[in-house]
Amino acid sequence: MFLSADEAAELLIQGMVIAVPTETVYGLAAIATIPSAVARIFDIKKRPADNPLICHFHSIDQIKAYVTQIPSATEKLLRHFSPGPVSFMVDLPADSPLKFATCGSDQVVARIPDHELLLSIIKKADQPIAAPSANTSGKVSPTSAEMVQRDLGNKVDGIVDGGKCSIGLESTIVDARNDDEIYILRQGAIGAQELQYMLPQTKFTVISESSKNVIPGMKYRHYAPDTPIKLIEDIKEVSGNSALLITQEGFGKLSIEWIIKLSEANVQIIKLGSLENLYELANKFYEKISSVDLLNVSTAFFLRIEFGNSSLGKALQDRIEKIASAS
Ligand code: TXA
Ligand code: MG
Repeated sequence: MFLSADEAAELLIQGMVIAVPTETVYGLAAIATIPSAVARIFDIKKRPADNPLICHFHSIDQIKAYVTQIPSATEKLLRHFSPGPVSFMVDLPADSPLKFATCGSDQVVARIPDHELLLSIIKKADQPIAAPSANTSGKVSPTSAEMVQRDLGNKVDGIVDGGKCSIGLESTIVDARNDDEIYILRQGAIGAQELQYMLPQTKFTVISESSKNVIPGMKYRHYAPDTPIKLIEDIKEVSGNSALLITQEGFGKLSIEWIIKLSEANVQIIKLGSLENLYELANKFYEKISSVDLLNVSTAFFLRIEFGNSSLGKALQDRIEKIASAS
């Protein structure tokens, strides 16, 4: 059932769980202060009980009403980049009603999504909305209402169809509680380059899986379709009856002999778009990745490509490596 913003807010207030669009990926939403609704999110997603949920707010003032304080670097970045695809870790008071959503943690990861429909729902509900990506844990994040419908359609109380997500990769997560060193806990479309521009004196560190302040989500198998995806360096590694994910540039480099060979070996080619337009490539990325599950092949190959040094390029590189390592 596709919902209007009014219906969505009404269902949320009643404690229901619905899928909502954001500019990054679709979220599985409930009012963050209703424990039974938050518990259902974990249940529907089969999410480990110690993996906290991002909370969505309509404004900086609404965030301020729930946290101990917004540190100065966080406030500066929030003012510049929100609404937008970046989330900030902030401290909660001891008795915070958001602790169901944070699994008891004293910090919440908060963001103001850049999506008019969702912003209007949060305003109508007048409460923060907890919303992890609207996929079964371990699967690819959905970037359209159809993708949500396919994965969780029969488990949710409704879906708000806001069209395709404009960014298509999950938000950057930033810990800017300390002015001296800011941590990027998850890479996204806005990265160190853009953040640094606002705070040129500050050191930015991208957290890797082996760091001590790694976020819980990094521990778990992540972002993979059911079909295993193998990252290959050379087209010779492709075997038959499979799918091949390849950029326009990668495809352009294949000889005509190879194109014929692949087609004779029953390799289905999925073009990911061009490195010249990373925004478009990112925005269709998860849809293309999850489409391999519809092809009835036992393996998919991804011909390795350097996505470049832009924040979006680095975020894409991070996701494809996670997908391959989870396969
Ligand atoms: O773009 C996004 O951020 C999307 C949309 C729906 O807003 N949401 C999303 O949520 O990607 P999720 O749950 O799929 O990923 C959130 C990540 C997880 O790795 C989780 O462990 C981490 O953020 N996280 C959330 N709250 C946290 C907290 N309080 N402390 C540490 N890590 C947290
Ligand atoms: Mg997720």
